[in-house]
Amino acid sequence: MKAALLGTTGYAGMTLLRILCDHPAVSEILAVSSSQEGEPVSSADPGMGEAAAAKMRGSRGMLMSIAEAASEKPDVVFSALPHLASAKALEPFFGRSVVIDLSADFRINDVSLFKKAYGEEPPRSDLLPQAVYGLCELHRDEIRRADLIASPGCYPTAALLPTVPLARAGKLRGKVFVNAMSGISGAGKKTAANYLFVERSENCGAYSPGTLHRHAPEMRKELALADRSLELFFMPHLVPLKRGIAATIAVETAEELSDEELRSIYADAYAEAPFVRITPRRIPETRDVLGSNRCDIGFHREGRTLFLFSVLDNLLKGASGQAVQSMNIRFGLAETEGLRSWGEV
Ligand SMILES: NC(=O)c1ccc[n+]([C@@H]2O[C@H](COP(=O)([O-])OP(=O)(O)OC[C@H]3O[C@@H](n4cnc5c(N)ncnc54)[C@H](OP(=O)(O)O)[C@@H]3O)[C@@H](O)[C@H]2O)c1
Repeated sequence: MKAALLGTTGYAGMTLLRILCDHPAVSEILAVSSSQEGEPVSSADPGMGEAAAAKMRGSRGMLMSIAEAASEKPDVVFSALPHLASAKALEPFFGRSVVIDLSADFRINDVSLFKKAYGEEPPRSDLLPQAVYGLCELHRDEIRRADLIASPGCYPTAALLPTVPLARAGKLRGKVFVNAMSGISGAGKKTAANYLFVERSENCGAYSPGTLHRHAPEMRKELALADRSLELFFMPHLVPLKRGIAATIAVETAEELSDEELRSIYADAYAEAPFVRITPRRIPETRDVLGSNRCDIGFHREGRTLFLFSVLDNLLKGASGQAVQSMNIRFGLAETEGLRSWGEV
């Protein structure tokens, strides 16, 4: 299978490149870079230059342009470009390759909500009706048939995996408060004073609370599909980690639930989900999942108040790993192909 990758030199792009290099079903990688076109891939990632070059046969290990990649007619194209730039850059691939977009350009099907969050109308609003939200555990059957997959944001993945099964079962009531902490790679490889080492080390705090964060509409839209009566409030925090997200969610349940009932709802929802693990006796931590494509979920009950805890690696289950998981599902491969369930210690 031929896979093209746009935005190769970004954090999500480099992570994707590494996964695709090891993926047994990917025979050729067409690695595109707008900033380093014509440069050897080893200049972008000295750690894995030869391995990547071996699968970049057509370009002999050189980063290429979008036009060159399109002319090779890839089976699948991943875009790890920023929102608004992504849908425009994908133009030559629509209708010709399966498109998996890691940006937000196809995640929100309400044009005015998208405009409010991202400042402009979605560049290809005409394609929104056919885009499938690529949260694999919740939309597996739709992903199987999709030619345009909108891979979810990292925060929404951490917020939705613990809440949607309970919401679908009608067990939640009222307001859902999502507090989440993210490592700095969640903001991408951009240079801004706020992301400098001196600003972020030994320092943490909330930012863009409530509806001010761009991921809030995406989470609200997906939760509403499960139970329209729920109202979600999002409080993101930046913490001094390179990668990882930990979400703590507080919500009321309709009635008091036992641990067995909670376990059984998750067991039903995630019976065939190799990358979700429930840890009822442990509050999971980011290092449990670092380097893996897994989301771990824990819970704690006090009467009808339920606390849910989820952790994931934002560059894997929150971005590139999940995108490859979608590719595996779409092309009828084993869902775990080329992806690691276990990370580093
Ligand atoms: N970081 C995460 O945890 C995460 C999680 C989920 C989803 N995402 C999404 O994945 C996409 C990539 O995120 P990222 O964190 O990898 O971002 P990043 O580190 O900033 O990389 C983005 C890459 O896109 C390319 N690019 C092309 N046009 C650009 C433009 N106009 N402005 C800036 N970059 C441009 C550049 O690569 P070339 O020069 O090689 O073309 C750049 O390195 C974003 O849409 C993001 O929202 C990221």
